[in-house]
Amino acid sequence: MKKDKLVAPVVKWVGGKRQLLNDLTPLIPKRMTTYCEPFVGGGALFFYLQPSKAIVNDINQELIHLYEVIRDDVEELIAELEQYQNEADAFYSVRDWDRNPVFYQTLSKVKKASRVIYLNKTCYNGLFRVNSAGEFNTPFGNYKNPNIVNADVLRAVSKYFNKAEVSFYNRDYASVLEQLPKGAFAYLDPPYDPVSETASFTGYSKGGFGRHEQIRLRECCDDLNRRGVKFMLSNSATDFIKEQYAAYHIKIVKAKRAVNSVASKRGQIDEVVIRNYE
Ligand SMILES: C[S@@+](CC[C@H](N)C(=O)[O-])C[C@H]1O[C@@H](n2cnc3c(N)ncnc32)[C@H](O)[C@@H]1O
Repeated sequence: MKKDKLVAPVVKWVGGKRQLLNDLTPLIPKRMTTYCEPFVGGGALFFYLQPSKAIVNDINQELIHLYEVIRDDVEELIAELEQYQNEADAFYSVRDWDRNPVFYQTLSKVKKASRVIYLNKTCYNGLFRVNSAGEFNTPFGNYKNPNIVNADVLRAVSKYFNKAEVSFYNRDYASVLEQLPKGAFAYLDPPYDPVSETASFTGYSKGGFGRHEQIRLRECCDDLNRRGVKFMLSNSATDFIKEQYAAYHIKIVKAKRAVNSVASKRGQIDEVVIRNYE
């Protein structure tokens, strides 16, 4: 399938892989029957590759609903986005829609999807963060000209979703990996093992991703390996992660640390790219 240059991430996501594309793409197997991203987030690699057959998953329901709306109702979504304003009062009023679950339930899927894009473009640092009650809690970003309605990209992504065979799921990653047949390839980009106690970031959704979760993921990788499914996994280069995956190929790459909100602390950090193939 021919690639469309306009196809790109529609939301900025914590841990987005845009800056690592040059390191990751040469490591991807040349042949695969199905491409799978069970922790898709903003999908930097997925949108870059534009595979003709893909299984895409994330535990974040709002995100997966957004992708489904882009596939099914892109023009309605664009029309909704045109209604929003980049002002603090408007921002906080839209942000707080989910504080009233009864009201939130009455919103259409398109309206909820437009809210995700609007908040993502206008909130501080584009950080999608929810508190322990699952409410979006990032403050207003006060940016001059956020690109709230990127109609060309949204239409291109919609066209890609409709042309390719893309299945969307909103589950725990393990149940998606279980169904992959031999010959499939999975790129795994889970929440990272924290490099220090304070670097811990668990705000993707309710619940966290601690070390027991990292071990459960490594066990899933062992299972993929036994079943003849190729996998490539990104994570931080902690001793713990390197020990977990000692049986596989581990490559160190340098990434910019983007999560820290203090600019001076956004240095370069080591990340690992782990594969079960040459
Ligand atoms: C590091 S981010 C992925 C970033 C993505 N590669 C990008 O380019 O934007 C990790 C993602 O894993 C998702 N996630 C966390 N726990 C999960 C689970 N148990 N199953 C599936 N997805 C999960 C989060 O919602 C988040 O979107």
